[in-house]
Amino acid sequence: MSPFWSFYIILLVVINLGGCTFLLWWTSRPKLDDPGNTSHVWDGDITEYDKPLPRWWINLFYLTLVFSVGYLIWYPGAGSFAGIGKWTSQNEVAKDQAAGDEKLAATFRPFEGKSIDELARDATARALGRGIYGSQCATCHGALAQGANGYPNLTDNIWHWGGSAEQVTQTVLQGRTAAMPSWSEALTSMGGANAVDDVTTYVLSRTDSSLLSTNAEAIARGGKLFASVCSACHGADGRGNVDLGSPDLTDSDWLYGRSRAAIREGIERGRNGVMPAQQPLIGEMRARLAAAYVWSLSHPTASQ
Ligand code: HEC
Ligand code: HEC
Repeated sequence: MSPFWSFYIILLVVINLGGCTFLLWWTSRPKLDDPGNTSHVWDGDITEYDKPLPRWWINLFYLTLVFSVGYLIWYPGAGSFAGIGKWTSQNEVAKDQAAGDEKLAATFRPFEGKSIDELARDATARALGRGIYGSQCATCHGALAQGANGYPNLTDNIWHWGGSAEQVTQTVLQGRTAAMPSWSEALTSMGGANAVDDVTTYVLSRTDSSLLSTNAEAIARGGKLFASVCSACHGADGRGNVDLGSPDLTDSDWLYGRSRAAIREGIERGRNGVMPAQQPLIGEMRARLAAAYVWSLSHPTASQ
């Protein structure tokens, strides 16, 4: 604030306070020439009379003026004068924040350095984890961790990146990026125009019966392509590899949908699911607690 505006505001404040004091003093003076009764009468017996305010009320008013002066000396308010109390809203926030951080640190302290399977056995840690899950993970994995298309169900025992305490910790803290490139070009160059369909047919033939395909020739062609292209990541038996996050293609769980069209689309265009690393976002302790809660959902007996 420039000195001019500071002076201007101080002037306004002083004029205001002075004005109020003068008005109070002036209106509460007994008026010697007061006629007392203005002779206006209502309803036969109510008469108008210029009565001064009660003394206690006026004194209260003076007190508020004295208070204002004290306030403006202690707190900032009069132009750029900072007040002798040196109060600032930033300091106030910083103080509150420090107190909040200390309280939070005290809440988390007992869980420091514990692995997520240890945390999962602790009811308090699970409850904290559930709260963190709700604010941090539910948007993607669902309120009940049941997942959605492209977002895995975290309550079952199917894990693309492994379900051990260590693997889930790594998934949550460091994140995971699934790399399944588009295979349409490679497959077409190797197996002709129908190659994508043939591989899809082969994949379906190895899954549950409702999706079973019966075209034996297509299955045989697709099987050959699978062995040379897909087995590198999904394994020769198609059961996946948790180090690469490549799923088991023989179970009935499909991250991107359980239909021929969805499976074909994945092969043709690729799939690149990203689980964002949580440690940089919410810190190690919170990420661990959320991971412990999630782990407890699929390991109910180990976490009691
Ligand atoms: C470089 C490793 C790699 C290769 C090679 C690979 N995949 Fe994948 N595949 C993955 C990964 C990783 C995922 C998981 C993608 C995700 O989670 O977003 C995946 C996902 C899939 C899915 C989706 C599964 C689901 O649950 O919805 C299908 C289907 C699939 N792959 C089929 C194939 C077929 C068929 C081939 C061969 C043509 C193949 N993949 C080759 C790594 C690979
Ligand atoms: C922005 C969306 C998003 C958020 C937020 C998110 N996730 Fe994920 N998460 C994913 C996706 C997508 C995958 C699947 C990655 C893949 O395709 O392999 C995943 C995978 C996982 C997996 C591995 C599942 C498996 O089959 O191996 C775990 C465990 C997990 N998330 C836990 C969490 C937890 C705990 C949180 C909160 C702290 C969280 N996620 C927050 C999107 C998210």
